[in-house]
Amino acid sequence: MKSKILVTGGLGFIGSHTVVALQEQGFDVVIIDNLSNSSLDVLAGIMKITQISPEFENIDLRDKEAVVNFFEKYPKIIGVIHFAASKAVGESVENPLLYYENNLTSLIYLLKELSQKDEANFIFSSSCTVYGQADTLPISENAPVKKAESPYGNTKQIGEEIIQDSCKVYPQISAISLRYFNPIGAHPSGEIGELPIGTPQNLVPFITQTAIGKREQLSVFGNDYPTIDGTCVRDYIHVMDLARAHVIALKSLLEDKLEKNYDVFNLGTGKGNSVLEVIESFERVSGKKLSYKIVDRREGDITAAYADTHKANSELNWKAEHSLDEALKSAWEWEKRVAQIEKEE
Ligand code: WQD
Repeated sequence: MKSKILVTGGLGFIGSHTVVALQEQGFDVVIIDNLSNSSLDVLAGIMKITQISPEFENIDLRDKEAVVNFFEKYPKIIGVIHFAASKAVGESVENPLLYYENNLTSLIYLLKELSQKDEANFIFSSSCTVYGQADTLPISENAPVKKAESPYGNTKQIGEEIIQDSCKVYPQISAISLRYFNPIGAHPSGEIGELPIGTPQNLVPFITQTAIGKREQLSVFGNDYPTIDGTCVRDYIHVMDLARAHVIALKSLLEDKLEKNYDVFNLGTGKGNSVLEVIESFERVSGKKLSYKIVDRREGDITAAYADTHKANSELNWKAEHSLDEALKSAWEWEKRVAQIEKEE
């Protein structure tokens, strides 16, 4: 029986791109997803790209019995990439208990199953949000983890601590937390991409939906920050670069390449771009003039964040390869594809 990799949240934005990258590297993938923020169309999209149908289990990881039964059904799981979590910053402020229950209970149930195995390799989807507004830029993995600005960010901080403590007492578990900066873009095939449900909270899907005519106008949340043009600066990383990093990180665990059984890596391009620079880049690659207005700052936004990528570059031998233009171009191509599909429905 082939060794299998479990991808939780594998029908989500980053999860689906990572499933494709795993399959292309010859891994056997099982997806767990409860379809709360994704759809089975994504499974079809994955299959169109790789011609390989991942096994799929519609399970809510808060259901302890379902998690136990899953690992009994799939005894050969040797690696887990854990994406499944609620991830909307604003929603987490309004509904903290949903976030603590969903994001932490699922993690604990997964780790309890892995602690029963002889070998387990675990990749955790974390976020640069754990740094808050870092004191120095670019942000390295040694930057202090500050008090989270939202329950969402807190679940990432607590999640990392739960994993680190587990790795201390279960030496058979090796784990890596990957702290993403701002994931954007879509697979070049146009078969999978970001599918925000409802009004997009993030900048790039709001830009592409405005350009396609789904949204009236983009609101730029503040232009009075101490940055190059007054708008916030972020490190926008192509989802394809992010997916590749997950496969490399998993392989480094499977091949016992890490010196210790828990580590953390920042995943970014190392370059910061302001909101207005993202708009300018989008207009250039799409040929569309974007309608936007400057409004008040958004509560909880930090001024600037971009990654010091030296650790991932050297220890994972991974570097982001796509430019902001390429990422925005792929996001725009995907938005046009979604509009085409919706028109045909
Ligand atoms: C980027 C910039 C906004 C929308 C969050 C989470 C992070 C990850 C990504 C989950 C900011 C500005 C945005 C809009 C705007 N989430 N903006 N108008 O807040 O950096 O990161 O999402 O994995 O963990 O913290 O991303 O895309 O929401 O905002 O002006 O309509 O765009 O103010 O400066 P953010 P974002």
